[in-house]
Amino acid sequence: MKEGIGKTHGKIILMGEHAVVYGQPCIALPFFDTMVKTVITPYKTQRLTCEFYDGLLETMPELMEGLQRVIFATLDTLGERHTPLHLDITSTIPIERGMGSSAAVAGSVVRALFDYFDQPLDYNQLLALINVSETITHGSPSGIDALTTTGTEPVYFIKHHAPKPIDSHLDATLVVADTGVLGKTKEAVGYIRRHYEEKDVKKAIEALGDYTKQAKQALLNQDAQTLGTLMNQAHHLLQFLHVSSNELDVLVQVARENGALGSKLTGGGRGGCMIALCRNQDADAIMNALKEHDATHVWKMALEGE
Ligand code: PMV
Repeated sequence: MKEGIGKTHGKIILMGEHAVVYGQPCIALPFFDTMVKTVITPYKTQRLTCEFYDGLLETMPELMEGLQRVIFATLDTLGERHTPLHLDITSTIPIERGMGSSAAVAGSVVRALFDYFDQPLDYNQLLALINVSETITHGSPSGIDALTTTGTEPVYFIKHHAPKPIDSHLDATLVVADTGVLGKTKEAVGYIRRHYEEKDVKKAIEALGDYTKQAKQALLNQDAQTLGTLMNQAHHLLQFLHVSSNELDVLVQVARENGALGSKLTGGGRGGCMIALCRNQDADAIMNALKEHDATHVWKMALEGE
C-alpha cells in the first residue's frame, strides 16, 4: 500500500529564549528522546487521527488551526489540495511545554506529505511551511523551533540569519524536567512585547543575548562550570521578565540544591519545562530530587563528553 512517513523530534533551548525574538542569539539542541511520526495512507476522505482528534481535516477544532493550515498549505504546494488520504500522527513530545511540539508536528506532517506524493522537499521550503502553523500558534515565531525540531545538530541562531552548528563536546549531562503545567508561550511573548520599550526590559533582553554569546564560548571551551553559572544568570533575568512560574522556580532551585552546575527554564515559560546542567555522576540524584518535587517527567541528555 502507498505510504508516506515523516519524522521530527523535540528541541531544548539551552540559552536565549525570548531574547531571540529581538535579534539576540539563542542556542538550541535537538532532543531525540521525544519524537513525532506521521504516517499517511490512502483513504476515502481527507482524515486526520492524533491524540486529540479523529475526523475530517475540514472540521478540525479551532485549537488545531495551525496544523490544519499547514496541511492545506502543503497540499496546495503539492497540487493535491483535495486528494483523499489519512494522516496518522503519533507524538511523544508533551504539548505546550517549550519542547517545540507544534513545530515538530507540523514538520512531520510536511515531510510525510512530500514523501507520500514522492516529491523532493527543499529544507527552506520545509521551514517556511512549518512557519505557516507557528505564526498561528505563537504569534511572531523566531523560527528556532522549526529549525531545531527538524535539524540534527545544536545550533547558534540569530533570527533571519543562517544558523551556525555548534561543535560542542561537553562532558556533562543536561537534565530536563516537566512541571506538568502547560506553558504559555504566546502570552509570555506578548507580555515582553508590551513592555519592550521599558529601559530595564530592553537591558535584560540585551543581557540575555550577552550571556548566550558567553555560553557559546563556554561550550566551545568545554567549560561546564561557566555554562552553569550563565544558565543561573539567564533564569534570573527570565524571572525579572515575568516569564517564569512558581513551579519552574521550585524545580530550578531543587536542581541547584542537589548539585546542578546551573538551571533555568527552557522555552516560552510560564509553565512547561526546566533544564539543569549536571556533572554526569550527579544527574540521577538530581533527577530523583526533581521527581520528588512533583516534576511529572524527567529526561537526561548526554552532552557528549569525549
Ligand atoms: O515553543 P517554545 O515554548 O519553546 O518557545 C519558543 C521560544 C521563544 O523564544 C519564547 C519564542 C520564539 O519564537 O523564539
